[in-house]
Amino acid sequence: MQFNDDDKLSQLLKINDELNHIKDIDSLLDTILYKTRRLTNADAGSIFLLDNQELNFSYVQNDTLRKQDPLNNKQIYSSFSIPVNEKSIAGYVALKGQSLNIDDVHNLDDTVPYSFNSSFDEIAGYITNSMMTIPLISTRSQVIGVMQIINAKDDSGMHVPFKTSDENYLNFFAGSATSAIEKAKMTREMILRMIKMAELRDPKETGAHVNRVGSYSIEIFQKWAEIKGLKYKEIKNYKDILRIAAMLHDVGKVAISDIILKKPARLNDGEFKIMKTHAYQGAKLFHGNVSDLDALSFDIAYTHHERWDGRGYPRRLRGENIPLAGRIVALADVYDALISARVYKPAWEETEVVSLLEKEAGHHFDPDLVEIFLSIYDVIEAIRNKFPDKE
Ligand code: C2E
Ligand code: SIN
Ligand code: SIN
Ligand code: SIN
Ligand code: FE
Ligand code: FE
Repeated sequence: MQFNDDDKLSQLLKINDELNHIKDIDSLLDTILYKTRRLTNADAGSIFLLDNQELNFSYVQNDTLRKQDPLNNKQIYSSFSIPVNEKSIAGYVALKGQSLNIDDVHNLDDTVPYSFNSSFDEIAGYITNSMMTIPLISTRSQVIGVMQIINAKDDSGMHVPFKTSDENYLNFFAGSATSAIEKAKMTREMILRMIKMAELRDPKETGAHVNRVGSYSIEIFQKWAEIKGLKYKEIKNYKDILRIAAMLHDVGKVAISDIILKKPARLNDGEFKIMKTHAYQGAKLFHGNVSDLDALSFDIAYTHHERWDGRGYPRRLRGENIPLAGRIVALADVYDALISARVYKPAWEETEVVSLLEKEAGHHFDPDLVEIFLSIYDVIEAIRNKFPDKE
């Protein structure tokens, strides 16, 4: 449905407040795009964030493609970037700091320097017509990215141009979106810094590992929640904190000495006993549960080494006595530990990793979660491609 113009200002103010409560950068981008598309009745959209003079593709939504393949969340893990210059639409908007409202990207005026890059449409099997591209400008007048919304629809679902009035309030909305994005980016950076400190090891490895574990975890949860019939809002709120809490699963390793943490060989029994304390040490950091994020981070740090069959550590919890999030991260973490090289072991072959997961379903892991994991395996692979280990 489409809001009429009178409602829009009050909608915008409400959304602004909502944005300020979201902690995770990805769930923030998701909300920003969703709200923008609802306000303008747009079929699709994406957000690019600026990093090193490049616009990095950071988030996408597309109702048409989602309807064709509802389970496929792969697209949001695509990665490509566009240089900031006059050649592309997004690049032009970032360069000039001004929005562009294009009625049909296939009928651009001869006088414009940019052209439409149709490769994304071709890969996805989609046709872009109208496109509004808005710069995300910070209060310090820096362009931090662009938001692109695609194919406005009329009440019958036909593609129509975006309205000029849309352009005005979207520029206003982009301001609040930008400050929320800057805040969430800072939160993400703080967390990565905390993790680097905790692991005190090869920092090139850790960032990618925790990003992957965070992403696998929310995708496993998303599928689990859809099967259980959880409401959109519940799913969204939980995902917002799950990614961050999952990224922090091993933060208790801050208490483990370098000699053990970085030992390029198998640990002996005494060393492993010390290593195992990282679960409790991590939980302690979040004790007190002042926020939902603390409570979930506590659960995950404490229970990510428990096993479904009750033979894990530190408390030998069993089955559904292990919090769902702990069961999810256990699976995500072991998968990623096996598929990657570690200081103490080479990477395993993919087929061996998958057969270990299958073999451990109902033993180490919650069998329902293993089934879910394998059913979204193409998304898991897309996540690995998005966050590769650096050489
Ligand atoms: P991590 O490297 O993040 O590994 C997480 C979990 O993945 C491990 O929990 C284990 O369940 C699984 N995993 C990792 N590598 C293997 C493997 O080669 N075979 C099998 N079957 N499973 C594997 P776990 O065992 O409780 O270890 C917790 C943490 O202790 C590890 O986190 C790692 O930081 C450290 N660690 C464990 N074993 C060794 C070791 O032999 N040498 C060193 N230096 N560190 C180790
Ligand atoms: C562009 O802005 O021309 C590139 C992005 C896209 O193809 O959607
Ligand atoms: C982790 O500790 O889980 C990631 C880094 C590593 O084990 O090498
Ligand atoms: C469950 O344990 O199956 C769901 C409740 C939770 O979030 O831990
Ligand atoms: Fe751990
Ligand atoms: Fe880990």
